[in-house]
Amino acid sequence: MKISFTGSEQEFYYTTASRIADMIKQLPTAVIGLATGRTTTGVHEALCEIYRAAPFDTSKVTVFGMDEITNVSRSFPGSCYDMLLRQVVKPLHIPMENYLMPPTCSDDFAHECKAFESAIAERGGVDLQILGIGENGHLGFNQPGTPFDSTTWISRMDEKLDERIRRESGSSPDADLGGFTIGIKNIMMSRKIILAANGANKAEIVRKALRGKISPEVPASVLQLHPFTEVILDPAAASML
Ligand code: GLP
Repeated sequence: MKISFTGSEQEFYYTTASRIADMIKQLPTAVIGLATGRTTTGVHEALCEIYRAAPFDTSKVTVFGMDEITNVSRSFPGSCYDMLLRQVVKPLHIPMENYLMPPTCSDDFAHECKAFESAIAERGGVDLQILGIGENGHLGFNQPGTPFDSTTWISRMDEKLDERIRRESGSSPDADLGGFTIGIKNIMMSRKIILAANGANKAEIVRKALRGKISPEVPASVLQLHPFTEVILDPAAASML
């Protein structure tokens, strides 16, 4: 794994964003997996600034969200669909037919998981996968314990997140909120991976994921086995290495 240390949080956002911009410039037909969360919100803001300052061709790039919340409305501002639409797809003028997202609602999620994988495979597989990391080492919605050979599936939402989404989305108490996510095996099939982490709350898990034992108990530790992974860190997230 290549580790890139940045000098400030702002540099961290720009460095990560520039990897996405450079991928699109070098390979206009690239297929890029995106993640949502606080980390990538900052990255996406930097990406928009880079694009606004010197626009580049985004008409052929394909972007997709690596995960989604099930059984909320797509228009709920916390859905991954809505976040990526607002943060990346619209500001970068990416054609809607090149924006692949799992549905939030379906009566056959097993089929949707397969269909989502096929849609990505039809575009030639993933050139660049951007990942954030959870404080417990999760990737996407793949929580600790997820097998390394997992493919696209619906994981159980952790309690805290379940509570927050329910409150913010006004979901009924019996709505089955789940985490639609590409699996660890799918992540590992990406030709290039960038794991982005910032903030002191990520320092310990970054150390475990990068320097600790490779184990499903720390999903991000699997990235030690990937030949083209770059980890981009701000000073706080790198402080325990
Ligand atoms: C969330 C998302 C992940 C994200 C991670 C980190 O649960 N499902 O895709 O990478 O947690 O989020 P944050 O950047 O807000 O810390």
